Amino acid sequence: MNILGIETSCDETACAVVKDGREVLTNVVYTQIPLHQPYGGVVPEVASRAHVEKITGVVREAMDGGSIDAVAVTYGPGLASSLLVGLNAAKGLALSLDVPLIGVNHIEAHLHTPFLLDGPADGSPSPEASMPALGLAVSGGHTTWIDMPRYGEYRIVGQTLDDAAGEAFDKAAKLLGLGYPGGPVIDRWARGWWNGASDFSDSAALKAMEYPANVSVRDPMPRFPKGRPRAGTAALAGLDADLCASFSGLKTALLYHVKRNPPRDDREKAMLVAAYQEAIVGTIADRTETALRRGAYRSLIVGGGVSLNGRLRARLAEVAAGMGVPLLLAAPKYCGDNAAMIAGLAFYRRSPEGDAALRVDVQPTLQPGER
Ligand code: KG4
Ligand code: ZN
Repeated sequence: MNILGIETSCDETACAVVKDGREVLTNVVYTQIPLHQPYGGVVPEVASRAHVEKITGVVREAMDGGSIDAVAVTYGPGLASSLLVGLNAAKGLALSLDVPLIGVNHIEAHLHTPFLLDGPADGSPSPEASMPALGLAVSGGHTTWIDMPRYGEYRIVGQTLDDAAGEAFDKAAKLLGLGYPGGPVIDRWARGWWNGASDFSDSAALKAMEYPANVSVRDPMPRFPKGRPRAGTAALAGLDADLCASFSGLKTALLYHVKRNPPRDDREKAMLVAAYQEAIVGTIADRTETALRRGAYRSLIVGGGVSLNGRLRARLAEVAAGMGVPLLLAAPKYCGDNAAMIAGLAFYRRSPEGDAALRVDVQPTLQPGER
């Protein structure tokens, strides 16, 4: 069964065709990053206009003349004006092809990315065989720990109470004048710092550097707080404080640090972001380990743009190995927003009533497990 997926929840206009939930036949992503760069963040109005402009071409390219059995689309969470473009395109396409429409939750779809393949199903673990799983969605908008007892069932067990991890990276980079999006730049500069680099102008050279095995924050590096919410905080909304995080204090700590000790050169800036990154990564690794201890999990599934981070990948691998749980990470091209994850998860989401989703509206604040 070939499902065509459409994703327009934020600043990527994407369309893909996936066979039987896993085999990616086509995958087209038009990223608007250059359009938002001058503003240092995503501007909703600019994003929705660009989606309108690009969606037809992106869909046409992904369809590539192949047969389509259903259309899937992200209906939340995300920017309302961006979601609307994809949803309406998907409704029109489903009607004209006379195939069912399937609404997909963007965060749940990020947790499908480790199961996407570039060819026919190989021996790698299937979604069903990987349950029960602990899911971790780490992106620009979300940092959420999700209990998945069976494939297709999601229950939030922890989350950030304020900024998402990606947002924390982006805000720090903005503060230090490193550009947008901040995650990839901070990852590169931190690689440079841990390798003793003195030149931070060659992005490709920094990116090629491996993190050393024994990364440890020591003098003269600043210590940033590992945002642990206080138990009983109302914002926890019933969740366990040990499974939740807070990244807004970290950003404030960086701001004060920079005010008191403005970095004198690139090397000092790199030292700051390396320490800052360790605080974020350490927090995520700690909560993940705690969450893994709470259940009898068969796998740790991680998705989202921040899962591209080299230090996060390494720390999560340590945590998973320590707990004896396989770590399932997506291929780098499926970490950021894409439509293959939408088309893939839709295969597990299809329902006999078919076109019920034609009545679906966008849900900008949709939560995992919510319908
Ligand atoms: O999943 P994604 O593409 O979009 C959302 O759904 O939000 O995630 C984008 C986020 C941005 O905040 C970006 O800075 C972050 O992912 N990111 C990274 C890295 N690459 C992208 N964060 C840390 N390290 C990276 N290498
Ligand atoms: Zn995303």
